[in-house]
Amino acid sequence: MNKTMDHIQSYYSPDNLYQKIMDGLALIGKDQSGLTLDDLQPVDEFHIRGDTATRELIKLSGFTSDMHVLDVGCGVGGSTRRLSHDTGCRATGIDLSEHYIDTATKLTELLNMQERVQFKAENALDLSFDDNSFDGVWSIQMNMNIEDKQLWVDELFRVVKPGGRVVLYEVCGGENTPVYFPVPWAQNETMSALVPPESFKEIIQSSGFAIETWTDKTDLARAAFSHMKEPVGEPELPEIGVHLLVGNDILTKAYNLHRNLEECRVSLVESLLLKP
Ligand SMILES: C[S@@+](CC[C@H](N)C(=O)[O-])C[C@H]1O[C@@H](n2cnc3c(N)ncnc32)[C@H](O)[C@@H]1O
Repeated sequence: MNKTMDHIQSYYSPDNLYQKIMDGLALIGKDQSGLTLDDLQPVDEFHIRGDTATRELIKLSGFTSDMHVLDVGCGVGGSTRRLSHDTGCRATGIDLSEHYIDTATKLTELLNMQERVQFKAENALDLSFDDNSFDGVWSIQMNMNIEDKQLWVDELFRVVKPGGRVVLYEVCGGENTPVYFPVPWAQNETMSALVPPESFKEIIQSSGFAIETWTDKTDLARAAFSHMKEPVGEPELPEIGVHLLVGNDILTKAYNLHRNLEECRVSLVESLLLKP
């Protein structure tokens, strides 16, 4: 593993994450025994527009209960669970972070979804699965940490069956540079590798995928972050939230994302791909 990948892995590796989530839930009066997918949303869907976006992606995907779908860069598995819950499909999530995968597995057991939803710690650039293993693949906001995007998209192409669909919901660069750091996916520029949407499209096409849909979601992202203000001092954070995943400077990261969106330094794309 190279130095940057090491950095990325340790960025996404908070100690005692599962216990911190349990403590947070207890503090807001949520009982573990009656826990629902919605209760976990503030912490387990770590992407722009959270569960609202996940539900849009489910609709776009057309995934059904007889399918086995791979979630690449699944984090703590909120969207993996939502996908399986809403479609009935079997879902496997992989992520570089063992801490996230351990938490994803425990949360899934807590919700009694472990028969249909499983997790494995591995690198998206070197997947352990055979060629043509999955009926579908999705990947939500992880390309930003990947420098070799061609290798990443080639791996998605390799593991999905011919005729299979791939859903991507990804942050790209914008017309302007540089990006303000830190942002939710990176403490500094060594951990972030954004390319403009047009370059991303070319990478996808050269791996062999046909692009079925390509939708710019930047305006929706702007609206979601429009209320962000520069934090002053040490603002209070909620008991449960994505700061548990990537640190207490989350409001600075969200504010910088807001600035990057407003100043056309980053963009957001949703796409459905087809392996011929
Ligand atoms: C912004 S989070 C999104 C997580 C999840 N998809 C979600 O929406 O909640 C980015 C995720 O990509 C993962 N990641 C980054 N580089 C990776 C790699 N090379 N292989 C697998 N996962 C990776 C990180 O560990 C992190 O969980």
